[in-house]
Amino acid sequence: MKRHPYSNLQFPAVHSYPFVAINMVSSIDGKVTSSGTLKPGSLGSIFDRHTMNVIRSHFDAVICGGNTIRQHPYYLGVPKEYEMEREGKGLPSQPLTVILTNSGHLDFDTPLFHNPPYPPIILTSEKGAAALPKKVEQLSEIEICGSNKVILEKALETLYTKYSIRHLLLEGGPSVNYLFLQKKAVNEIFLTLAPRLVGLKSDLTMVMGNRVLFPEPSISLVSYFEYNNELFLRYRLTYSPEKHYGRN
Ligand SMILES: NC(=O)c1ccc[n+]([C@@H]2O[C@H](COP(=O)([O-])OP(=O)(O)OC[C@H]3O[C@@H](n4cnc5c(N)ncnc54)[C@H](OP(=O)(O)O)[C@@H]3O)[C@@H](O)[C@H]2O)c1
Repeated sequence: MKRHPYSNLQFPAVHSYPFVAINMVSSIDGKVTSSGTLKPGSLGSIFDRHTMNVIRSHFDAVICGGNTIRQHPYYLGVPKEYEMEREGKGLPSQPLTVILTNSGHLDFDTPLFHNPPYPPIILTSEKGAAALPKKVEQLSEIEICGSNKVILEKALETLYTKYSIRHLLLEGGPSVNYLFLQKKAVNEIFLTLAPRLVGLKSDLTMVMGNRVLFPEPSISLVSYFEYNNELFLRYRLTYSPEKHYGRN
């Protein structure tokens, strides 16, 4: 493939909250973990990883939930070769990394906090902030967005106003995807369907919460392409106006 189909993604301008897109890889039987985790190659191919970077390259910031970050404590950035193009588009050379945590239980002796291009932004509650060690203040930006748990609306407003994040990429996991979808804050979903079967009951699916999502957004397929048996799907979500929290 000469030019990646996502190399020139366009998204609508936004006015008060970030535009949010989810990007996930799933097996044919709908699992996003294999034996309880996701390791490079356990579901998606090398091309899927490349696709993840291409998608990231269009966003101001990438956000993940605490469990995902604890499993993959790395900066959610792009390879160096994307930096010039990003700067040319008026984006920071690397996307900002954002972590959502209630507990504040993060390991600060991990690659994520060792010389990151920008200090990771930790969105947490008063309770979570109290659990963070003192040295974290030098290693990250801490944003308190609720007393016992993060209020998503407040968190998105902070990202928009204080950090100028207009386009936010959500890379899971399933609980945080559910939180955003429940708040009608997701505008698009990028989904890689990998030609894999996991089969284990306890493995996770893309969106996991305690209730059926209601009302369900309207979902339309924006584009799809196939590469080496993997399917790359892009969906747009819309919500009826009175129930709509974010923007389309
Ligand atoms: N296939 C894929 O594309 C893909 C992508 C990403 C992740 N994954 C996999 O998904 C798994 C993790 O998914 P998961 O659903 O267990 O966890 P997750 O969504 O990554 O993280 C859940 C955590 O996010 C934080 N959180 C959620 N709601 C919050 C709120 N309102 N306020 C503050 N913090 C909040 C909490 O962190 P604290 O516990 O720190 O309080 C919560 O425990 C991993 O195995 C990972 O490898 C797969």
